[in-house]
Amino acid sequence: MDWTIEPMDNSHLDEVMELEKKTFPDSLWPASLFFCEVNLNPAGIYFVALKNDRVIGYAGMWLRLRQSHITTLVVDKDYRKKGVALSLIVKLLREAIKRKASHAVLEVKRSNKAAINLYKKLNFKLIGMRKNYYVEDKEDGIVMFLENLKGSKVKEMLDRFDKRHV
Ligand SMILES: CC(C)(COP(=O)(O)OP(=O)(O)OC[C@H]1O[C@@H](n2cnc3c(N)ncnc32)[C@H](O)[C@@H]1OP(=O)(O)O)[C@@H](O)C(=O)NCCC(=O)NCCS
Repeated sequence: MDWTIEPMDNSHLDEVMELEKKTFPDSLWPASLFFCEVNLNPAGIYFVALKNDRVIGYAGMWLRLRQSHITTLVVDKDYRKKGVALSLIVKLLREAIKRKASHAVLEVKRSNKAAINLYKKLNFKLIGMRKNYYVEDKEDGIVMFLENLKGSKVKEMLDRFDKRHV
């Protein structure tokens, strides 16, 4: 399967919202928030994965004070387990490095094995837990951290994953 990764813009927002509603029916980001992230937030950096011009996934981060904070990651159910999420996160990390970030951080639900495995694969380490972090169900959030983005270990890892796609 082939897909491309492009910066998210307003033309993608309807399809991003369709996916958001399907994926997080109890805790979705409203369309206005995606609009602000793409158009108004100077720290917001968002990408979509496109197949035949359709959005099949998206991911984003806030880049502030040399920190990349990954805010969202979704892949359409029909396209999972093919490396789409990996390619989105690799793109975010490359962008973070380009903009001089030193590390990346994120929160993920404790029960979300798929996402935790994905981040572990990218060498994110578990560094803490936020009790009852998620408003909709009070689930704990696991905090994961990737250090030294400019180091050779991260570069080698990104090169390895890039070879699988693009
Ligand atoms: C988590 C999610 C983004 C993964 O997307 P994906 O495109 O299927 O992931 P990839 O194909 O790139 O998988 C990369 C790695 O992640 C892990 N992984 C992905 N799905 C997995 C699953 N269902 N079970 C266990 N590990 C999984 C594996 O380590 C996989 O590597 P492998 O294929 O070599 O085993 C997707 O399942 C999703 O959108 N879930 C709902 C939203 C969500 O939970 N977002 C994360 C919020 S923090």
